[in-house]
Amino acid sequence: MPAHTITLTRPDDWHIHLRDGEAMQAIIGHTAKQFARAVIMPNLKPPVTTVALAQAYRGRIEQALSACGVSKADFTPLMTLYLTDKTDPDEIARAHEADSIVAVKLYPAGATTNSDAGVTDLLGKCSKVLEMMQRVGMPLLMHGEVTDPEVDVFDREALFIDRVMIPLRKSFPELKVVFEHLTTKEGVDYVRDASGPMAATITAQHLLYNRNEIFKGGIRPHFYCLPILKREVHRQALVDAATSDSPRFFLGSDSAPHAKGLKENACGCAGCYTAVHALELYATAFERADKIDRLEAFASFRGPDFYGLPRNKGVVTLTREPYVVPLEVPYGSETLVPLAAGETLPWRML
Ligand code: DOR
Ligand code: ZN
Repeated sequence: MPAHTITLTRPDDWHIHLRDGEAMQAIIGHTAKQFARAVIMPNLKPPVTTVALAQAYRGRIEQALSACGVSKADFTPLMTLYLTDKTDPDEIARAHEADSIVAVKLYPAGATTNSDAGVTDLLGKCSKVLEMMQRVGMPLLMHGEVTDPEVDVFDREALFIDRVMIPLRKSFPELKVVFEHLTTKEGVDYVRDASGPMAATITAQHLLYNRNEIFKGGIRPHFYCLPILKREVHRQALVDAATSDSPRFFLGSDSAPHAKGLKENACGCAGCYTAVHALELYATAFERADKIDRLEAFASFRGPDFYGLPRNKGVVTLTREPYVVPLEVPYGSETLVPLAAGETLPWRML
């Protein structure tokens, strides 16, 4: 008999986009309901490049949480800094002292949403900063795609390993690195076998779908994110990694809200919205692989273990009940369309 309920230690989301202002107010309750902590991406406009900006952003997050009735004890935002060519190594030292900043995020310039201020040449421009990060134990979270427009969009992650990841880790072997939203078999093989402090986050969409999903019966913009969905062989490698014994793969939803009109558009934005049903989506993926017993390690243990933070105390329960994903959810003055809108998932979070 398949289990009727699953109880997990409260999980964390190690990669989320909360946005700001009324957009954030509309969605923050979803993440706070599902997770105890989340690593907050810094790709705002303007980006969160300094400790002062990160602390101010954290203040706005706390206000938004309190406005939807979530207490400080119930949800903790873990802040990040946005790395630029001009980041000062002293800013890293200050971030290390500030208790709420857990990592620095690398966006290669031009790789994705609000990455214009990102890094143009990681080893060339950021060596001093990387040295400081290695010294103080500050993790680098990497959007792992090359930005060379000549490179096929489906090959950008695999090439990033050779062109950026391997040289970086050769120069800074003790730097803690997270390969964010991993999407390829090449990425899985690299992370699994690398020496030194290395991990990766995996999204629900990359566990559930391959690239056919974007084109089924027409172009379906709500399945478009970056890095883009890949072939089935890659999806399978990600499922194997997430459900394996390796401590290096853990949950990072990369939930990235964009208003419906900006997705259903001649030039639609990249990002899947999964915060409202993240655990239901992950449970579906783990169950399909017949590995639901591995969900807790992936969602609740390996992330804090890698970051050197305590595991959470409480629990969440999922029950085997059909859950129909809402067609739209409010998003400030607009709406947004969650991933798999209108589909029925086999698990519901209580
Ligand atoms: O699909 C994505 N959306 N990938 C990213 O890297 C950024 C994100 C966003 O902020 O919308
Ligand atoms: Zn992201």
